[in-house]
Amino acid sequence: MGPATPAAARILFVGDVVGGIGRDTLLDCLPLLRERYAPTFVVVNGENAAGGLGITPKNADQMFAAGVDAITLGNHTYHRREIYPYLDSEPRIVRPANFLRSQPGRGACVVEHDGTRLGVINLSGNLYLRAGRSAFAEVEVALSDMNGADHVIVDMHAEATSEKVAMGWHLDGRVTCVVGTHTHVPTADARVLPGGTAYITDVGMTGPRGGVIGVKREQAIESLVTQMPTRFETSHDDPWLMGVLITCSQRRRADSIEQVMMPRPS
Ligand SMILES: [Fe+2]
Ligand SMILES: [Fe+2]
Repeated sequence: MGPATPAAARILFVGDVVGGIGRDTLLDCLPLLRERYAPTFVVVNGENAAGGLGITPKNADQMFAAGVDAITLGNHTYHRREIYPYLDSEPRIVRPANFLRSQPGRGACVVEHDGTRLGVINLSGNLYLRAGRSAFAEVEVALSDMNGADHVIVDMHAEATSEKVAMGWHLDGRVTCVVGTHTHVPTADARVLPGGTAYITDVGMTGPRGGVIGVKREQAIESLVTQMPTRFETSHDDPWLMGVLITCSQRRRADSIEQVMMPRPS
């Protein structure tokens, strides 16, 4: 079932995949989500795919092989060195566009499916995160390269809700959707803004709900209680996939956005 026009599309965006448990949850949930939502595009934030920090070429290849169309990243982009050349050579994986130009990788890409072109832009917030340039300035540059795209999704990877809300309003009516990532906790504000841009402050993560944003809860609690350096490992407790589905019928506009929350099938 292909779209009637290039503007008809269904975009599944999946939040930060955390560790092996997150990768397995993604792979187990994807076939069910395809059946349920028939997405035209699947975009996944993979910044925590490798043991909770960063992503390896093998992790990315596995996601692409599972039918993921594009991968976005965030503040943990460069944790694994083996990904640096991959970021330069693989066009379907993007790191924040407002990192320094000298840093490996690109900040935007365009992927195509059944004649529909989806532009993907990754941004990093500037509050409490390390990004060399302004997200608000650099998104304009990234957008100017998106002329041929029927739809544009912006992954605003940020700590501060204020920056994400502001980016949603800033881009309302200019892109299909602005989705927030990084906090690993889904927010309850998914909606289509008046200009037609779907927005959510954070989609959550694909990983263990039984931990503390991905980390084993005993370790996270010990760190906070003792205020001493503590070893962090990825929790395996109660894994869920979290994301959003955005439906569209007009160029660069959304009709709806709904949250997707699915426990890993047993
Ligand atoms: Fe993350
Ligand atoms: Fe992050």
